[in-house]
Amino acid sequence: MLENIRRIQNPILRSFATASITFSVVTIVSGVAIGLINPKDKSAGQVGVYSSLLGTGCGAIFGLVLTSKASKKTSVSTESISNSNIWKDWRNFVVVRKIKESEEITSFYLQPEDKSEIPNFQPGQFLTIKLDIPEQDKPVIRTYSLSDYPELCTYYRLSIKREPAPKGLDVPPGTASNFMHDRIHEGSLIPAKPPNGKFVLDVQKSIAAVLISNGVGITPMMSMAKAVTRLNPNRPIWFVHGTRDGRFHAFRNEVSELAQQNPNLNVHFRYSRPTAEDEGHYHSVGYVDAALIKELVQQEAEYFLCGSPSFMQSIMQGLKELGVPESRVFFESFGKPMQVVSGSQSAPATIGEGVEGVQEAEIVFAKSGQTLIWNQRDGSILEFAEANDINPPFSCRAGICGTCMCKINAGEVAYQEEPTAAIDEGSVLICISQPGSSRVVLDI
Ligand SMILES: Cc1cc2nc3c(=O)[nH]c(=O)nc-3n(C[C@H](O)[C@H](O)[C@H](O)COP(=O)(O)OP(=O)(O)OC[C@H]3O[C@@H](n4cnc5c(N)ncnc54)[C@H](O)[C@@H]3O)c2cc1C
Ligand code: FES
Repeated sequence: MLENIRRIQNPILRSFATASITFSVVTIVSGVAIGLINPKDKSAGQVGVYSSLLGTGCGAIFGLVLTSKASKKTSVSTESISNSNIWKDWRNFVVVRKIKESEEITSFYLQPEDKSEIPNFQPGQFLTIKLDIPEQDKPVIRTYSLSDYPELCTYYRLSIKREPAPKGLDVPPGTASNFMHDRIHEGSLIPAKPPNGKFVLDVQKSIAAVLISNGVGITPMMSMAKAVTRLNPNRPIWFVHGTRDGRFHAFRNEVSELAQQNPNLNVHFRYSRPTAEDEGHYHSVGYVDAALIKELVQQEAEYFLCGSPSFMQSIMQGLKELGVPESRVFFESFGKPMQVVSGSQSAPATIGEGVEGVQEAEIVFAKSGQTLIWNQRDGSILEFAEANDINPPFSCRAGICGTCMCKINAGEVAYQEEPTAAIDEGSVLICISQPGSSRVVLDI
């Protein structure tokens, strides 16, 4: 019964409910007691009335206290996301399940090797993993969004697309994703850092959330849609996903089942090249674009975007044209497309966070014991380090994941793009920065 009362969100109603219950209980109990002890005594009747009133008052107060306890519980669980069971650096995880989701995407369910608890995370966050790939001379570090939001956070699920080599380029296919698909099986061990990332959905808000993705960009949307369904099902959500056809469509059944549980979850699947077998499994044909979003969503909303760079660019432009304020649009890019490096490429102009880039600088790589002269043509500090056989860890190369973060002991850097990763005090992201002073000392 207590749990049912706890579910009443309105504190006045909750207080009223507990007051009514205690009134009934105390009245019945005192009635029975008076009947047994001395039914003819007038003062006994008065005692009964006072008891009922006192019980009602206590019940009302209890209802209010229960309210504050319940809301405290919510804030504690949010806090526990950031504080409890967070580990530092790497922790070994065992792959407990490996499930093929589509032609290209496979999910990996990870549980900690030490079998102790793991922290919950905010829907939309990612995990950074480290792979020892025999052919690679150093561990390969990559970040993958958490694609599930289980009721009890006893595992993390990563859903990884096998990256082929880009068409027309004679380069190897994606290192980490192919290794995961081909050589990671149930029982394999993978070190991972704690969940991280700022592309998160605030579950408590009531404004509609429109989750727009294509391809493997569906992964953070899965945790977002599941978290809202579980924790704030009154919040309207649109789940709009574009893919080629049913063979490439991951989580189709999972999303449809979720929509059956949550009447406020509106799903739209758009296929660009549907096949005959896809009949009945998609809602429209073409590419997801702003016109579709306008047609589907006719209320104030927040927009969450994840997908290929061209897809996100076109949706963002379209939303802008529809008058959606920038503050309502959130996006995650899975990284910059890699470019074949040619010596004559000139570096883009620097836009810093108040720091201007310089033309030339001395960079001291303290741990590696190398002091080198950097020139604007050398690109980002990460690219310059790599060109000189210093190989710091990296993943996104776009200022998103924080993997390349290192301490700066002297000097300044100028950011070429706005960093989205959380940066520790006294540290910098070297994948999107160039020197911002004539001498920079980095702890690499
Ligand atoms: C925050 C975040 C979340 C992410 N979440 C997910 C997720 O949920 N699921 C997911 O699948 N991915 C996700 N990613 C992307 C993921 O981190 C990897 O970038 C992706 O798996 C590719 O890594 P890889 O090692 O397989 O490919 P890489 O080895 O990094 O190669 C990338 C591409 O470059 C090509 N290439 C290789 N060499 C060259 C060259 N010399 N010139 C040009 N091209 C070259 C490869 O063929 C490949 O197509 C996420 C990224 C970020 C930043
Ligand atoms: S490599 Fe991801 S922030 Fe630099």
